[in-house]
Amino acid sequence: MSAAGSSGPEAGRALVTAVMGAMREEVARLETALEGASEERQGPFRWLRGRLEGAEVLLAECGIGKVNAAALTQALLAAGARRLVFTGVAGAVDPALRVGDVVVSRDAVQHDVDVTGLGYALGEVPGTGTAWDADPALVAAARAAAAELPGVKVLVGRVASGDTFVADAATTERLRRDFDAACTEMEGAAVAQVCHRWGVPFVIVRSVSDSADHDAEVSFRAFTEVAAANADRVVRGLLRRLG
Ligand code: ADE
Repeated sequence: MSAAGSSGPEAGRALVTAVMGAMREEVARLETALEGASEERQGPFRWLRGRLEGAEVLLAECGIGKVNAAALTQALLAAGARRLVFTGVAGAVDPALRVGDVVVSRDAVQHDVDVTGLGYALGEVPGTGTAWDADPALVAAARAAAAELPGVKVLVGRVASGDTFVADAATTERLRRDFDAACTEMEGAAVAQVCHRWGVPFVIVRSVSDSADHDAEVSFRAFTEVAAANADRVVRGLLRRLG
């Protein structure tokens, strides 16, 4: 049975949802809203357990990058998380996206994985897959929550992750051409890969802080708070809908 199974010894117990972000700005508002928060630690990892919008959650900041994200995901699953929501900001790849707009993951790929020299597809992790699908019910709930934000465009699309802050138009165009990406960031696909291996449903909710072009650094610094606030609103609406 998958870790997400609903029969067996865990039947009837609250489904614990892990909510993760990479940076302080991406989880701080949610921490403030957490009810009955208590801190838990496991080796180098730390998270808060509490209730958010009626859901039992483990809320954690993983740090930037795929390895940080994968490692904390594993720890949160071991601590009992049975679904995972990743929140934060992203660089736009779809040219229709503007600062503050929201991308809900249809699936996620690692744009910096390249084993094509051995005959694998670009982005394919040999033996593990290329793109990992987000959970349709979580996607639908996130999309509905995002639709409540006034003046915000919502795309359900591909999240392209890599250990790179993308800040040039040529790379962004490549991510669009090679991966049909909607946005780029540095953690989501690592979380997706770990969740996929455990059979745990996930969704990534990202709000645009920049256009991953030559202005990306300035835009990221100026708009991360605004964009992260939008992503947080979507996560809270999503948790409310999960009941
Ligand atoms: N997160 C926010 N903007 C980003 C960018 N341009 N590249 C990678 N991760 C990001």
